[in-house]
Amino acid sequence: MTLLEAIAARHSVRSYHDRPLADDARAALQQAIARANAEGGLNIQLVENDPSAFAGFLAHYGKFRGVRDYLVLAGAKAPDLDERIGYWGEQLVLLAQTLGLNTCWVALTYTKNAERVSLAPGDRLRCVISLGYGTTQGAGHRIKQYADVVATPVEADAPEWFRCGVEAALLAPTAVNQQKFRFALRPDGTVEAKARWGFYAKIDLGIVKYHFELGAAPHKVVWA
Ligand SMILES: Cc1cc2nc3c(=O)[nH]c(=O)nc-3n(C[C@H](O)[C@H](O)[C@H](O)COP(=O)(O)O)c2cc1C
Repeated sequence: MTLLEAIAARHSVRSYHDRPLADDARAALQQAIARANAEGGLNIQLVENDPSAFAGFLAHYGKFRGVRDYLVLAGAKAPDLDERIGYWGEQLVLLAQTLGLNTCWVALTYTKNAERVSLAPGDRLRCVISLGYGTTQGAGHRIKQYADVVATPVEADAPEWFRCGVEAALLAPTAVNQQKFRFALRPDGTVEAKARWGFYAKIDLGIVKYHFELGAAPHKVVWA
């Protein structure tokens, strides 16, 4: 499965089989986590076999079942922390999809287990991503259309790569499916991506920028 196929196949999955990660999946994830932490300046951790984080009332209310493994997304406090968490976290989400795993970004409906998470002083734990072999592959839902998320009229005859970037971004997960992002193509060929106010909208922005880059490839996106 390519990353573009993973974008199309991915839906949030909240119910998982009680099955540990395969060794090769774990190794691939650990390698990608090490890269994300080094290049993204983050402190992402894989926590395995810890059902406690999703055993509380909130997780049940949020319909989570059988979560045993998850990614903790943390990093030192900084103005762009959320966007980096979104950008690098979504790389792990799409990698997981190619490894036959399912995922769900989770900002609210989990309980922090301090014994299983090691944060550096000053680190902020912003959210987690549940991970595992889903009992289903999830389901599609209503999403915005191209015209809803681009600034007009410049993009009316935008190049193919810009359109493909936006289409890939429209398939990205966002908090409460808010999709509060907009893309604009500038006359100099750079792309402006903006998030309107919303819960975790800056994490969403990082997520959709990664999708946009994958959709626009092989064009190399230069962000405004
Ligand atoms: C930053 C972020 C936080 C999220 N937090 C939660 C959460 O706390 N509980 C939950 O059930 N889903 C959560 N989600 C999943 C969204 O509800 C889901 O991505 C959205 O409804 C779109 O559905 P899809 O992922 O299947 O495309 C979150 C998603 C993102 C991107």
